[in-house]
Amino acid sequence: MNYRYLTKNVIPADLTIVKAKNLEVWDSSGKKYLDFSAQTLNLNLGNSPGIAKKAFLEQFKKFTFLSSRFGNEAFLNLSKELIKVAPKGLKKVNIKLTNGSDANESAFKRARIYRKKPYIISFYNSHLGESCETLKASGRHFSSSFFGGSNYFIHIIPPFSRIRTEAEILEEIEFIFKSRDDIAAIIIEPIMVNAGVYIFSKSFLKNLRFLCDTYKITLIFDEIQTAFGWLGKMFAAEYFDVCPDILTVGKAFAAGFPLAGILLKDEYDVLPYSFDEFTYGGHPISCAIALENIKLLTTSEILREVSDKSRVFKTQLDKYLSKNKSVIKEIRCCGLIAGIEFRSNKEATILYDALIGQGLIVRKSMDGGGPSLVLKPPITVSVPILKKAVEILHQVTTLNPKL
Ligand SMILES: Cc1ncc(COP(=O)(O)O)c(C=O)c1O
Repeated sequence: MNYRYLTKNVIPADLTIVKAKNLEVWDSSGKKYLDFSAQTLNLNLGNSPGIAKKAFLEQFKKFTFLSSRFGNEAFLNLSKELIKVAPKGLKKVNIKLTNGSDANESAFKRARIYRKKPYIISFYNSHLGESCETLKASGRHFSSSFFGGSNYFIHIIPPFSRIRTEAEILEEIEFIFKSRDDIAAIIIEPIMVNAGVYIFSKSFLKNLRFLCDTYKITLIFDEIQTAFGWLGKMFAAEYFDVCPDILTVGKAFAAGFPLAGILLKDEYDVLPYSFDEFTYGGHPISCAIALENIKLLTTSEILREVSDKSRVFKTQLDKYLSKNKSVIKEIRCCGLIAGIEFRSNKEATILYDALIGQGLIVRKSMDGGGPSLVLKPPITVSVPILKKAVEILHQVTTLNPKL
């Protein structure tokens, strides 16, 4: 297709979607796909008109927009509800944010001001956003040469490179904490989803919490991928039983509408008025839908069902792995998030294209330790559809003449 009018960084995949319902999407020729990328890695409830529509229309009737400088019921109710479900210890929220990048920037600002120190530690190959600061923090592609280098960020190599173990990484972190007096915080995605689903262990996160307490360093969890249900809990902090000082959310927060937020311990409430609120942050329509999202997750069986579905998913993926070890290096799975790491880019690319041909959309990740396909279906996925998706994967892999 000719996209001469688009900048080259936003040219879409050759798949124009004209209709979507739950986890199914249809292209312009009428072909149906199962979207195991959750559009893409975002929608905990899928494209779910039933859940969003009522809240949307009720809010829309009142007003389409209010500046985040005025209070409104949806914004205030959501802020209160978020604190009710937050990990214990996180007592304040700011949801006047639109994107995950805003939320992580807010975390950096708060940690630096609170600690009166400039440096933040982060992992190479993180995905923390695409604003200048979050690109620098992510330690990916351009960030070291443009955007002011990695100024005020220190990157450490994540364990998925298999160069070092988690224990060795903790040693490195302790060494940095001990030997420098300019470190404010460390930011971590408890599961590095974009990097191909690297899952930090519970003991790693607990030890990291201990080191942060010992050396007075702020622990930030980026939960933009992990919050709101994929692990069968509202937050990864609950799943791993580790409470950070600051926790950022976005993506599934408003189940497909733009909204992000930051949850924090009291002492990080350090920003003056007008330093952390964005034009469309706290949009009343997004807040009304986010409120429904939280209500649904706390009052239905959806979260409890995730652990049963996760067991089925893992069993199916293990079977798939055992029959395809010649092309697959490793499968990592936690809750309803799975990463399949291939032995080469070629295999991941061939399979990604072949899966689309067979009506299964996944996410291709080349950002991490190895080429991976990420599966992150909406948490409302049914067991038969989970099985069907892995069956498609299996057929496309075993019958593929190019592999
Ligand atoms: C873990 C994580 N953090 C932050 C972001 C940035 O979020 P946004 O694109 O909403 O700025 C993303 C986006 O993919 C992400 O996956």
